[in-house]
Amino acid sequence: MTTPEGIAGLATRLRRAQRVTVLTGAGVSAASGVPTFRGPGGLWKDFRPEELATAAAFSRDPRLVWEWYEWRRQRVAQCAPNRAHEVLAAWSRRYPRFTLVTQNVDGLHERAGTRNVIRFHGSIWELGCWQGCGGSPARWTDDTVPFPELPPPCPGCGGWARPGVVWFGEPIDPSVLAEADRALDCDVCLVAGTSSVVYPAAGLAGEARRRGAYVAVVNPDASAGAEDADLVLAGNAEDVLDEVEAALAGA
Ligand SMILES: NC(=O)c1ccc[n+]([C@@H]2O[C@H](COP(=O)([O-])OP(=O)(O)OC[C@H]3O[C@@H](n4cnc5c(N)ncnc54)[C@H](O)[C@@H]3O)[C@@H](O)[C@H]2O)c1
Ligand SMILES: [Zn+2]
Repeated sequence: MTTPEGIAGLATRLRRAQRVTVLTGAGVSAASGVPTFRGPGGLWKDFRPEELATAAAFSRDPRLVWEWYEWRRQRVAQCAPNRAHEVLAAWSRRYPRFTLVTQNVDGLHERAGTRNVIRFHGSIWELGCWQGCGGSPARWTDDTVPFPELPPPCPGCGGWARPGVVWFGEPIDPSVLAEADRALDCDVCLVAGTSSVVYPAAGLAGEARRRGAYVAVVNPDASAGAEDADLVLAGNAEDVLDEVEAALAGA
């Protein structure tokens, strides 16, 4: 359970912090109605995400994979940022050096007005060329839901466009990795709403701690990522972050 001492402890660390880095996962968007991959409502037509979010699945059946993304884009379009997104957006304006590294592809941190968001796994609102035609730009934003045809065409070559996300088995963009790595030099590293099982994202908190950061984990499942944490706040991100923000305001 989240204790008042835990909340106060994190607030004390944050009050002294200059460099704050936050790592988020799907749990932060759960209260907005975006299903997590591994939680209830995360399955689509009985497919596991590992069966759809791969280049092999896309080359086999691009229409099926796009239908899944359209289902997710449609859902997310109807969702709004929750209190967790709002508190983190406020922190992004408050701390002199703030970075948010998110595994989420839903764009809700950006919609809440968060500055300095690193999208570790890309965005469902971006598209890229499946053929890699090198058209300019290589990635583009398109929030059309639904598309008139699937797969939507690449404006560069007329071939298939693909979702602008990182699939299982694909590398993280080296420039994104380097940016995220720089953010691990921080005073406080808060990890919220991630099961900490998908690498390399799952290794970031441990690395921040090795470099001297105070690591706090927020998750209703107290075991998720606990081995890399100085503090575990077992609760929902939207509640715990609201309490931390109230503690910061009250002091
Ligand atoms: N919203 C999204 O963009 C979204 C949704 C599903 C999956 N993903 C993808 O899933 C992969 C990694 O998985 P993950 O770790 O982000 O998600 P995950 O589904 O593996 O884990 C979600 C975690 O959130 C926790 N959780 C549930 N409700 C919560 C709440 N209200 N507050 C705080 N925590 C809560 C769960 O206990 C769990 O540990 C990533 O590759 C990511 O791109 C993204
Ligand atoms: Zn192309």
